[in-house]
Amino acid sequence: MKYVLRTPLPHHHAELGGWISDAEQCLRWAGPALAFPFDSQMLPALLETEVCDSYALVDEDDRLAGFGQIFRREPETGHLGRIIIDPQRRKQGVGQILCKELIDAGAHRHGFRSMTLWVFTDNSAAVRLYSALGFLPEAREGMAGCQFMRLSFAVPDGAD
Ligand SMILES: CC(C)(COP(=O)(O)OP(=O)(O)OC[C@H]1O[C@@H](n2cnc3c(N)ncnc32)[C@H](O)[C@@H]1OP(=O)(O)O)[C@@H](O)C(=O)NCCC(=O)NCCS
Repeated sequence: MKYVLRTPLPHHHAELGGWISDAEQCLRWAGPALAFPFDSQMLPALLETEVCDSYALVDEDDRLAGFGQIFRREPETGHLGRIIIDPQRRKQGVGQILCKELIDAGAHRHGFRSMTLWVFTDNSAAVRLYSALGFLPEAREGMAGCQFMRLSFAVPDGAD
């Protein structure tokens, strides 16, 4: 199956909303800023309360396979958020594909030098995914039970 990253359309938000079935899942995915239940049609406004770019990972039939956002919270650093994969497609490497695409967009489209994220330490699927991609834990005060992680991009010789 081939996947591409694109700007989410209303039908993608409807699919995304259908993946979240309780408040616990909602908190793990989107953090405390998104209250459950929510209206899927309102997701663009609910998820874009600060400057960010939202991305849909879609299959060849334009069906949503994953979703994620990139926030600019620090100069030269992109912050990943709201990473999620279609429950029917989990544990098949799609999370890796989504994150690699978002990291590539961060490095080449946005010109960031590093990417950061927050993850609940007991979210073993997410911790393993991010660790496999090279994200390293970094000390930072935050929500209880959460870990801050950073992936730094190598700067080519001669570049400053
Ligand atoms: C976290 C999430 C995005 C992972 O997506 P995925 O498509 O299942 O991940 P992948 O199949 O690409 O797997 C990536 C790595 O995570 C591991 N992994 C995936 N699901 C796992 C699970 N349930 N338990 C343990 N490890 C798991 C895989 O084994 C793989 O590690 P490996 O390369 O060392 O074998 C997905 O579980 C999800 O959408 N969760 C709900 C939303 C969420 O929690 N988002 C994270 C917010 S920080």
